[in-house]
Amino acid sequence: MTSAEVAPILALAKRLAREAGRIQREHYEGRFEIQTKSSVTDLVTDVDRACERAIVDAIRSERADDAILAEEGSGRDYPDAEWRWVIDPLDGTSNYAHGYPRFCVSIGVEQRGVATVGVVYDPLLDELFSAVRGGGAHRNDRPIHVSSRARLDHAMLSTGFAYDVHSSLEDNLDHFVAFVKEAQAIRRDGSAALNLCYVAAGRFDGFWEIKLKPWDVAAGALIVEEAGGRTSDFSGRGSCTSGRETLASNAQLHEAMLAILQR
Ligand code: IPD
Ligand code: CA
Ligand code: CA
Repeated sequence: MTSAEVAPILALAKRLAREAGRIQREHYEGRFEIQTKSSVTDLVTDVDRACERAIVDAIRSERADDAILAEEGSGRDYPDAEWRWVIDPLDGTSNYAHGYPRFCVSIGVEQRGVATVGVVYDPLLDELFSAVRGGGAHRNDRPIHVSSRARLDHAMLSTGFAYDVHSSLEDNLDHFVAFVKEAQAIRRDGSAALNLCYVAAGRFDGFWEIKLKPWDVAAGALIVEEAGGRTSDFSGRGSCTSGRETLASNAQLHEAMLAILQR
């Protein structure tokens, strides 16, 4: 990887995240169509689709050889691409549909399978989180760093629940209860990508969730690592890129969180 190759990709990811964020801001609390996907709680709106269209169309016209994995299915993914974009056009759709002001655009870019660029944009706060592998993490171009809290009872953690929570026994409630009893505070505010960025910025000290998807974590996990944090699956040995088990922390709390997740 050379910085000459990565700089235009970062610039494009930032531009597209801001463009999708503009669409989200324009329609926020307005009228839009809401439909369900995998369950009654799994929503998609016209705005998710409009954001994805804007991002995917621009990548196709400017970087025709790149693979694209996009949540709403309009990308073209193929295994031998040098560059692969992993996109959540609107993370926090339930929040968006209810007018709860916590949602974002998440764009991760891999080079031959390695997370290389991550951009997450919160259009209401105008906060753009970004990272390039080896180049640190930033919020609106200023460096950010994870917190230094080393005790769970001093920590604010966040989590989320999957869309099959009504029907599945693998529902994260056991871990939720355990962390409620051990941490200083727990938040569940509905955007995994922003939760990861908040770990990177030291606002949260740790985050865990199960059954996320690659587009939820592609950008945020790199941003956490580049901010000095640690990410893994619940064994502590694997990565969280599939989203199946995601643990992100300020590094200091990683082992303590793993111990609870492995109970
Ligand atoms: C969801 C959000 C939420 C998390 C869910 C995700 P979406 O993504 O990140 O915080 O708890 O598991 O699916 O559907 O709003 O893009
Ligand atoms: Ca998502
Ligand atoms: Ca989404």
